Amino acid sequence: MTSLKIPKGTFDVLPYGEREAWQQVSLWQWVEKIARETAEDFSFLEIRTPIYEKIELFDRGVGETSDIVTKEMFGFEDKAGRKMCLRPEGTSSVMRSFLENHLLQERQVHKFFYIGPMFRYERPQSGRYRQHHQFGVEYIGESSPESDAETILFLHEFYMRIGLKNIRVELNSVGDLQSRKAYKTALLKYLTPHFHSLSTDSQERFEKNPLRILDSKDPEDKEIVEKAPSILDHLSESSRKHFERVCDLLKSFNIPFVVNDKIVRGLDYYQKTVFEFLIDGSKTIGAGGRYDGLSSLFNGPDLPAVGFATGLERVIQLLLEQQESFQAPKKSLLYIVPMIEEAKKIAMDLASISRKTHTSTHIDWSFKKMQNSIQKAEKMGASSMIILGEDEVKKRSFQLKDLKKREQKEHPMAAFENCLLGMEK
Ligand code: HAM
Repeated sequence: MTSLKIPKGTFDVLPYGEREAWQQVSLWQWVEKIARETAEDFSFLEIRTPIYEKIELFDRGVGETSDIVTKEMFGFEDKAGRKMCLRPEGTSSVMRSFLENHLLQERQVHKFFYIGPMFRYERPQSGRYRQHHQFGVEYIGESSPESDAETILFLHEFYMRIGLKNIRVELNSVGDLQSRKAYKTALLKYLTPHFHSLSTDSQERFEKNPLRILDSKDPEDKEIVEKAPSILDHLSESSRKHFERVCDLLKSFNIPFVVNDKIVRGLDYYQKTVFEFLIDGSKTIGAGGRYDGLSSLFNGPDLPAVGFATGLERVIQLLLEQQESFQAPKKSLLYIVPMIEEAKKIAMDLASISRKTHTSTHIDWSFKKMQNSIQKAEKMGASSMIILGEDEVKKRSFQLKDLKKREQKEHPMAAFENCLLGMEK
């Protein structure tokens, strides 16, 4: 056994072997397939951006005072001394790519999705990793409250297709810049007499980004914040109308949600609608919101945008918590056993026919004993076996063994394609 170990806060996804159930690759592939299908059904197109970017992108996008930038960046210098980092999230990268590649000229609305790893130097704990994976979408160029509701509906639909239960949506508005300015004044006024009772983290945020105090996990902060003024009472007319319309639409879509005026989110680019998806007693599985100001922060035009991202680890783990024996659909395997030298060419010919029909096919090149081949086939998850012995070669036939039913029958070679049609796929 090697002494080389995987870095802290990361994990392997394996096709088989001893590992936790959520690390099975078949589950990941299945969830990713549903993500892609749902994205296509909502007419979103895939975008792929690099795993590392200039650190400045996230300083500006996510915000210099956010936890992600101050505490969790996987930063490094390249050989030329340029400051880089592994991407902690996808929204800033997508917006950078969108502007840099002049995609704006191509059409009026832009709907992107991505699936890939993100990196945050967090304290590893259950459901929190240093490399995690997000399925995210970014809907750029549309400012309507309908597009916010449709984005929330999209994420809800994805969870429904996966089969997750007891999902709760929490919704808030952090308003436009004007609303936030008014709210900041009210919040600071309320917090000032409590300043010395706040946690050190929150005291630091008091100056730099007081809204984030609402998000504090510290019990004493939470108690203070409980009675703080609500941002919803400080929304500008247009932000308030926008929020009310989103709520009405979600009701009409029958999406269960609650308004939680303490949601501010850990990334600074949000404006107006913000939301989180939770499953009772668990961490947030997905989140997002509107970020109309991000394009201009990157020196682009003033562009509205909304999006979400969901952590795939959490989705898969919760699915298994809710349905312990859940199995992702697996492709069955055809196992071909040439028992003598002369049968090997025939095995290859049969395999090339079955592979053309997308049947996963394995040839056992080192036949010793039939019992041994059956054991190997079962370990690999094969459902059917083709046996080519001396008799079969002579008669131009093959034996088809159903490994589940333990039945075996001889067929003429010409019947191979028909047999494939009848096999469990
Ligand atoms: P976020 O809330 O920072 O938002 O992350 C989205 C989701 O990624 C979380 O809800 C959680 O499921 C998962 N996640 C985050 N950090 C970790 C971690 N350390 N380990 C496991 N899972 C994690 C964003 O990243 C925004 N870019 C979302 C967005 C897209 N907003 C608009 N467009």
